[in-house]
Amino acid sequence: MSQNQTPLFSGLVEHAKKNPIQFHIPGHKKGAGIDPEFRQFIGDNALSIDLINIGPLDDLHQPKGIIKQAQDLAAEAFGADRTFFSVQGTSGAIIAMVMAVCGPGEKIIVPRNVHKSVMSAIVFSGSIPVFIHPEIDTDLGISHGITTESVERALEQHPDAKGLLVINPTYFGISADLKKIVEIAHSYKVPVLVDEAHGVHIHFHDELPLSAMQAGADMAATSVHKLGGSMTQSSILNVKEGLVSAKHVQSILSMLTTTSTSYLLLASLDVARKQLATKGKELIDNTIQLAQSIRRRINEIDQIHCIGEEILGSKATFDYDPTKLIISVKELGLTGYEVEKWLREKHNIEVELSDLYNILCIITLGDTEVEANILVNALKELADECKHRPGKIEPVEVLLPEIPVLALTPRDAFYAETEVIPLDESEGRIIAEFIMVYPPGIPIFIPGEIITMENLHYIRKNLEAGLPVQGPEDDEIKTIHVIKEYKAIK
Ligand SMILES: Cc1ncc(COP(=O)(O)O)c(C=O)c1O
Repeated sequence: MSQNQTPLFSGLVEHAKKNPIQFHIPGHKKGAGIDPEFRQFIGDNALSIDLINIGPLDDLHQPKGIIKQAQDLAAEAFGADRTFFSVQGTSGAIIAMVMAVCGPGEKIIVPRNVHKSVMSAIVFSGSIPVFIHPEIDTDLGISHGITTESVERALEQHPDAKGLLVINPTYFGISADLKKIVEIAHSYKVPVLVDEAHGVHIHFHDELPLSAMQAGADMAATSVHKLGGSMTQSSILNVKEGLVSAKHVQSILSMLTTTSTSYLLLASLDVARKQLATKGKELIDNTIQLAQSIRRRINEIDQIHCIGEEILGSKATFDYDPTKLIISVKELGLTGYEVEKWLREKHNIEVELSDLYNILCIITLGDTEVEANILVNALKELADECKHRPGKIEPVEVLLPEIPVLALTPRDAFYAETEVIPLDESEGRIIAEFIMVYPPGIPIFIPGEIITMENLHYIRKNLEAGLPVQGPEDDEIKTIHVIKEYKAIK
């Protein structure tokens, strides 16, 4: 089959054209039974391929027909031995990756700033996380990836780890020396699992950082929906055979996946793969050029700075993706949150994220000069408005919390009986919830860790500095959940 073909999407369209009499789910029957207003809005075409795993349409759980063909084409396009489609986002693919290598009591090396799906996977699998601190950029107040040195140290101390998980590239588009990290891990026969949520496109352009498969990683959970043109919630899991078995990965993924898989999402993965494989280079060329021209224009505005290749050169900033616009606004005297709100209210612009110092805007295959001009002009207007503002926001020192000792696996802590106590009296107790500060987006505590005075101090300092401390049930963090302790009965 050629990369120009879309066996799954075309198979669905062919099937719908035959207009079969359907005595199967979904019960809306090509839209006839759905709310008319919704039907009119979403259109009959979409509803006609909202189908289910009947014979001609294959089954994601045991693909042998058009889904298998589509997955095989994706594997070829992404340089994988096997590609599995996920209708449960990259979160679903990440949980499957972790559970495929780790069981109860087994170690997995992970950066401290992992996405919540990794922590869910650690709870589900009963594994023991061995944390590595990511590198912190104190100027931008963001965390980057992990360094080759920290991977080396972690593996020296834990050669029995069952896997190493790497976030590459980061949300902000920064990537580590993934090839070297893979070489180090493989010298210990430890498989490398890549959270590639923000890097589907990098495989298709050689000016972008190396993709997980190009770097020789064993698995990668890749959000096609984020930057690759498929529909929200559709992702892929790429696998290289050797240290992991694709068959085992498939059965874990199947255990975690709905039996009613959305064919709209699956078909959108098929067409996104075709577009990336056949036109990706050209489309991404345009995207990079557009992003670089926006970057240049933003950098002409006083007191607004769009980060570029000057960020490279530290141990964790090996390469970067220029389509991510990290826009530092702290010199305006405004926080990123305030700029996000201003752009929404004044210009109907929605950014990808904001934090204390920055906003992040992503430029993709879907953008043109029109959107670029609107953003640049809005930022110019904002800078003019801020010219006469007294004072700047005082830079807040971004500190790195000490990683506490893990007394219970996150799974045991999750299932343990808990009680609520005042934060000030919690030293020495085992915490049962997450506490996180953003920036730099690193958990101070995860369930199962022993609360230390230093970490309590760190929380207080962040609260005093006005940084949002997130996670605990009590928003003000006067009280926290800890594992219940039973006193001896006299
Ligand atoms: C670093 C990272 N990993 C994983 C995910 C999960 O991806 P999804 O939303 O497709 O489940 C995200 C989502 O934002 C993410 O930022």
